[in-house]
Amino acid sequence: MTETITINHSQPDAEIYKSLLPQIEALINHEEPLISNLANVTAALKEAFNKISWVGFYLLNEKKLFLGPFQGKVACTIIDMGNGVCGTSAASKKTIVVDDVDKFPGHIACDSGSRSEIVIPLIKGETILGVLDLDSYELSSFNETDKKYLELLCDLITKKLLIEKLVL
Ligand code: SME
Repeated sequence: MTETITINHSQPDAEIYKSLLPQIEALINHEEPLISNLANVTAALKEAFNKISWVGFYLLNEKKLFLGPFQGKVACTIIDMGNGVCGTSAASKKTIVVDDVDKFPGHIACDSGSRSEIVIPLIKGETILGVLDLDSYELSSFNETDKKYLELLCDLITKKLLIEKLVL
């Protein structure tokens, strides 16, 4: 297994995702600790996209989301279900794209520089396990392309890592 990824930053985002997803699939391994795998996923995403200011997982335990592996500035450690973009995504089991965080009621500002955000739920069957959260310092950084490929990535993670419950 290789621990490096190769990215051509001059390509359109869709092409970067098409090259990145198989590399992440090769990088993660269900025989290794979940926390190690998720940490490498965040590092790969941060390396692939310059537009990302923060990327990380919040993992669900006892109806609260707890900060998991991430890349970026220090962040809030606990988010209640239904709160902020992360808690809303987890409660609705739907991806949320926020073009302007100031226009999302209840947005939780961990980094005051953050301007736009996308949150993807990690779902296995009907069970919500957590969310993947990406922030950007630019407005409208994330779109349908990000949604499509990040949902595929989250699907890959929940299938390949054979997670039944994300144990903290
Ligand atoms: N903005 C998120 C909180 C997490 S930070 O962005 C890292 C929210 O509103 O849920």
